[in-house]
Amino acid sequence: MLVKTVAELRDILNETNRVSKRIGFVPTMGALHEGHLRLIQRASQENDIVVVSIFVNPSQFNNKDDLKLYPRTLEKDLSFLEKQVNNYLVFHPEVSEIYPESDDFRPINLGYLDQVLEGKFRPGHFQGVVHVVHNLFRIVQPTNAYFGQKDFQQLVIVKYMTKKLGFPIEIVACETLRDPSGLAMSSRNMRLSEVEKVDALIIWETLNFVRANKFNFSQTELKRLAIHFFEKGKLKLEYLEIVNSENLMETTDLSNSSVCCIAAYCGNVRLIDNLLL
Ligand code: PAJ
Repeated sequence: MLVKTVAELRDILNETNRVSKRIGFVPTMGALHEGHLRLIQRASQENDIVVVSIFVNPSQFNNKDDLKLYPRTLEKDLSFLEKQVNNYLVFHPEVSEIYPESDDFRPINLGYLDQVLEGKFRPGHFQGVVHVVHNLFRIVQPTNAYFGQKDFQQLVIVKYMTKKLGFPIEIVACETLRDPSGLAMSSRNMRLSEVEKVDALIIWETLNFVRANKFNFSQTELKRLAIHFFEKGKLKLEYLEIVNSENLMETTDLSNSSVCCIAAYCGNVRLIDNLLL
């Protein structure tokens, strides 16, 4: 079922709440692929009804071209879901439904979390994400919300926001789904040629290089070697960082839970990926 307004969604969900059912929520920007589907299927197993939002959120794009070029494939998305999932509804609102004049969201101080990795290169991006997720949480009021580790920093920030604002919502982290080649699935992959998809594998190879060598070198040396390894490929590296997976601070202790995060351009498509070490 396709729902376009907050009023309609609330009507349907209030019916659902009346018999105290669990609501699973999977926020997306559409152009759905198997990675999204995994989140939605998990939500469907763990809840009585699933809300999938499809909303290309303008406030999280710091680059106008990226917003313009972001794939919009609603009809395809709807038939993709119809074949694969039960008991869900798709919420596809207009911008004015998500950001009404009465919007009382106030920016949240994300401190360090917003200044590293993506935050350094995409100013304002995470405030945009936090804003839309906050407003969506208020509208949907889910029991459980599902986010992919593919966007590792987003997951950490959403958990932080949920706790800080006291939303009674369980944030469920889901593993990154990859093509058999290792390329992390992403809506942006649609913009890659077949040759570029092969070029992009250097990201996955570098992440594995870091994991395989985590005890062989100091953090500084490992990072230097990993960048050297990456630069044998054709992509343009934006950053490669090895950080603590909970607070995203640079870490020298790789025996603790750490994550390697990479952002790079493949042609004019910006790709991100990460691997827990
Ligand atoms: P989008 O990029 O559409 O991703 C929606 C969700 O799917 C995110 O939680 C993302 O981490 C997850 N996801 C994407 N690719 C994945 C993969 N290969 N494996 C597992 N999970 C994957 O992330 C956003 O949209 C937006 O920022 C949003 C949270 C919807 C706010 O606008």
